[in-house]
Amino acid sequence: MDYKIAVIKGDGIGPEVVDSALEILDAVGAKYGHRFHYTEVLAGGCAYDDCENPLPKETLDVCKASDAVVLGAVGGPKWDDLPGEKRPEAALLGLRKELGLFANLRPAILFGALKDACPLKPEIIKDGLDICVVRELTGGIYFGDRGFKDTDMGPAAYDIEIYAEKEVERIAKVAFDMAMKREKKVMSVDKANILESSRLWRKTVEKVAKDYHEVSLDHMYVDNASMQLIRDPKQFDVIVTTNMFGDILSDEASMITGSIGMLPSASLGGDNKGMYEPVHGSAPDIAGQGKANPLATILSMAMMLKYSFGLGEESDCIEEAVTKALDAGYRTGDIANEGEKVISTAEMTAAVKSYL
Ligand code: NAI
Ligand code: MG
Repeated sequence: MDYKIAVIKGDGIGPEVVDSALEILDAVGAKYGHRFHYTEVLAGGCAYDDCENPLPKETLDVCKASDAVVLGAVGGPKWDDLPGEKRPEAALLGLRKELGLFANLRPAILFGALKDACPLKPEIIKDGLDICVVRELTGGIYFGDRGFKDTDMGPAAYDIEIYAEKEVERIAKVAFDMAMKREKKVMSVDKANILESSRLWRKTVEKVAKDYHEVSLDHMYVDNASMQLIRDPKQFDVIVTTNMFGDILSDEASMITGSIGMLPSASLGGDNKGMYEPVHGSAPDIAGQGKANPLATILSMAMMLKYSFGLGEESDCIEEAVTKALDAGYRTGDIANEGEKVISTAEMTAAVKSYL
């Protein structure tokens, strides 16, 4: 089969990790007889430098005309002083909104070979860890009204958390469908003791749960959830939560797996056209030095094969190759323990490729 993929390498280590991931994708294509056609477009800081717009129309058009989108990362200190709508991050929000990508799947998996890199006590993680955070991505406080006003306490700024029933319903369905393929349990995380939007969230998730008799549903307040993730992460399987809570909790979950350099993500919408990117940012501190861990982006390709193209075997093939490379002791700097040999982005890519 032929697949059209829009490629946004972005800023910092983005181009390095995307090049690695596409190399792996091409190797999988060669093995299974698929052809991936890439169209490279700009977004983020590099797009701003090119045309003073972090998300040019051409980029959106190409993404909409593709079967899936691959993104590296955007942003960096060079663009930090730009106003909000010109900043590289505006490109991310714009892509999510314009492509209707309301569901962000962030699996946090602790690979057996990396148990030493996990900051939790060995007895807590002795049986490994496999959590999937399902984060709402196009609603809530990141997209609500914002502005400034004068108050008794002087000038003030505000951002509004708002959720509509239909927004909650569709993300809850994604979580329950995911749970059906896993351990059949969902933890919905909110702040329903305080927030009106969270009470609507909770009520709506419960309504959706009625269509999934086999799945058990629990609720947890976000402050408790952030604590429980450290105390006893094994209690979680699928976590469904709002845009902002999901942003924070999935970063927390990521550290339990050893390094942010390991975590892939998929952003999906109704029509199954997805955007696939590592959870990490552009890592300006190590950009251009060949030090970046490419595994998060490589694993994002495995998610793309599975969720956008329905290629389960090809997807498993990538995950197994990554596992084998880690088992064989290949380590980039972020996942190496003291005394372990540190390899480059290109060497890690070659190692994974050799195990495909
Ligand atoms: P970051 O994820 O870029 O880096 C945090 C730390 O993790 C750094 O020490 C970095 O070197 C390390 N790191 C990240 N990815 C790595 C990898 N693949 N291999 C090895 N080490 C890795 O987050 P930070 O520093 O908060 O943000 C840097 C820039 O990235 C900012 O401009 C931020 O806005 C942007 N950003 C972009 C995101 C995106 O495009 N989706 C997400 C998060 C941040
Ligand atoms: Mg974040």
